[in-house]
Amino acid sequence: MKALILSGGRGTRLRPITYTGAKQLVPVMNKPILWYGIESLVAAGLTDIGIIINPETGEEICTKTGDGSRFGAKITYILQTEPAGLAHAVKTAEAFLNNNPFVMYLGDNLVQDRLDTFIYQFNSECLDALLLLKQVPNPSAFGVAQVTADGNVTTLVEKPKHPKSNLALVGVYLFSPAIYGAIAKISPSSRGELEITDAIQQLILDGKYVKANELEGWWLDTGKKDDLLEANRMLLDTSLVKMPIKVEGRDSQISGRVQIGSGTTIVKSVIRGPVVIGHNCRIENCFIGPYSSISDDVTLVGTEIDHSVVLQGARIEDINCRIVDSVIGQRAHIRTTLQRPKALRFLVGDDSQIELV
Ligand code: G1P
Repeated sequence: MKALILSGGRGTRLRPITYTGAKQLVPVMNKPILWYGIESLVAAGLTDIGIIINPETGEEICTKTGDGSRFGAKITYILQTEPAGLAHAVKTAEAFLNNNPFVMYLGDNLVQDRLDTFIYQFNSECLDALLLLKQVPNPSAFGVAQVTADGNVTTLVEKPKHPKSNLALVGVYLFSPAIYGAIAKISPSSRGELEITDAIQQLILDGKYVKANELEGWWLDTGKKDDLLEANRMLLDTSLVKMPIKVEGRDSQISGRVQIGSGTTIVKSVIRGPVVIGHNCRIENCFIGPYSSISDDVTLVGTEIDHSVVLQGARIEDINCRIVDSVIGQRAHIRTTLQRPKALRFLVGDDSQIELV
């Protein structure tokens, strides 16, 4: 079985961060979102992985992620030249997939469940498609499935105005090669894309065997700022292990589950986990509160921050007010001379400069 990760999306819902970088590389708990998907596939024994990329961000994804050896996998990059939909991406990867069954994984999704049991079910029941579902409060934002009591899928609709169930399609699908025939029969949707949801509906119409299974653990589609912060919170909550602190930490209090990278100095600061801080950071006179991920090479001076993600090389200085619920882009520089605003919330793109005066 092969795996296909779709990382061709432009990330319009995460602008301005995605004006300058790929959304699949935005870090959650200091690791690119995409890498969690790769690790999950490798953990399920799938090591022959194709990654769909686009002409704008593809190079950055290849350079950062490499040939797969760091994950124990072999990665083949496949260029999708136009944003023509998820089913179009599968068509583009046909030569790589070479008539094998495959797991398709959307590169901006995070799924807590292990994939082995789904792969086992797909193989043992000889399915043409196995869909993963999750009950959500806002089904209109997703593909929505109707399923019989024994797990057979009867209808699928992409982002319905009046959803017939609260079961959203999670961005992980298992397919047999029958999917190609179905894709060949569908036409672009009203948003001009070849929808995978329509291709699966076509499989059902063709009498193929399409089942679905609900996830037990959490699932996050990290398309927007608040989803990204929620993914960061979930991962820090469930996956961060306390590490012995080996950094220089003068006159500081560090409590709870905290990881700190090498070369980072912490002076006169309070850090309350769960918090992850990367390598070569300078933290001075700061409070860093729960659910914060601080990437490598970040400088924080005279700053209070919690429930936020700070990207590589950012500098935040003398903000006399707590920064909350924020995503700060790479190399962004924020400083102020204001005395006491109540709270600050930011979505700051790469290389931005903000002065509050
Ligand atoms: C895509 C699929 C949708 C699915 C969602 C999961 O939507 O088309 O059916 O529920 O991913 O993340 P998109 O993120 O492209 O809007």
